[in-house]
Amino acid sequence: MTQSTLKRDCRLAEEISEEIRNLSDAYGNECWKKGGSRLAKTLLKDVPLTEDVPIKIRANDVGFGYGHQDILQNIDFTVREGEFVVLMGPSGCGKSTFLRLVSGLSLPTRGKLEIDGEPVRDTSIERAIVFQDYSLFPWLTTGENVMLALSQVMKKKKKEIQQVAQEYLQMVQLEHAFDKYPGQLSGGMRQRAAIARALALSADLLLMDEPFGALDPVTRVHLQDLILQLWQDRRQTVLFVTHDVEEALFLADRILLFSPGPPSIVAHELKIPFARPRQRKKVFQSPEFTELRDQLMDHMNKGLFEKLEREETVFYPGDRI
Ligand SMILES: Nc1ncnc2c1ncn2[C@@H]1O[C@H](COP(=O)(O)OP(=O)(O)O)[C@@H](O)[C@H]1O
Ligand SMILES: [Mg+2]
Repeated sequence: MTQSTLKRDCRLAEEISEEIRNLSDAYGNECWKKGGSRLAKTLLKDVPLTEDVPIKIRANDVGFGYGHQDILQNIDFTVREGEFVVLMGPSGCGKSTFLRLVSGLSLPTRGKLEIDGEPVRDTSIERAIVFQDYSLFPWLTTGENVMLALSQVMKKKKKEIQQVAQEYLQMVQLEHAFDKYPGQLSGGMRQRAAIARALALSADLLLMDEPFGALDPVTRVHLQDLILQLWQDRRQTVLFVTHDVEEALFLADRILLFSPGPPSIVAHELKIPFARPRQRKKVFQSPEFTELRDQLMDHMNKGLFEKLEREETVFYPGDRI
């Protein structure tokens, strides 16, 4: 497909979706409105991102602090609809904080953060988040946790919701834990339950905070493939935090690297050129992979060494005598 055909298809899909949105506005039907967006995404499914794809997230000089401590500073970037963006950086640099800002759980202390052209003011059902600490409701069973999420987006009878919840748990290989409480699950199982719950929302924006951190390597690979498959089908926009360089390179369209901070900035951006759908073996064995991995490691180490040097300048042992 040529670039101009892609752009034309992209525009066509947007026009169809716009028509449906207009119709739904005219009839005041929320269901149709969602349907319009979904249809556009389905049509756009195999179309790579171009300049024509609308901007989903725009961070403009965003800053955030707790009390007098600045955590994030001058965060400037845009994410297009359907992009898979990975956030990396050392522990404590503010990755989770940034996801909280995008989710609407916290608000920036300076700058502008917009989603679909609107300032983020509150949480939304269109933004699903997998928290780093899983955050399941401990008084509900695993199945009920997923059902509760589903009941927010599905107006169906309990039995049907239960069945869909079971399907999502099956996707993360947790169907046997439907009636178990979070306290009865291992860390990795709780993490998978939280992933199933977030996926069940089929939200436009999926925010995942180190979602595979507690998983064994085999389950991790399975879930990476699952996320990529769902992302390919649904064309969700994904912000995904990980410390795993190989995982980042395999999943991302783009990697944003935060500096150690505080305050932290987006210190580097890396575009990942591998064609999609990606084949794990092919990607990992390619010379570009080794080169990108080295580049990423260099940037991460550079940031850390600079931080150490800064700290050494401040706390040079001789200074304190
Ligand atoms: N509720 C809070 N109150 C005060 N400081 C916090 C709070 N949450 C996080 N922090 C601080 O903000 C910084 C960034 O934290 P976080 O976003 O969790 O980093 P990351 O996810 O990159 O590891 C850390 O220094 C952390 O100690
Ligand atoms: Mg974190």
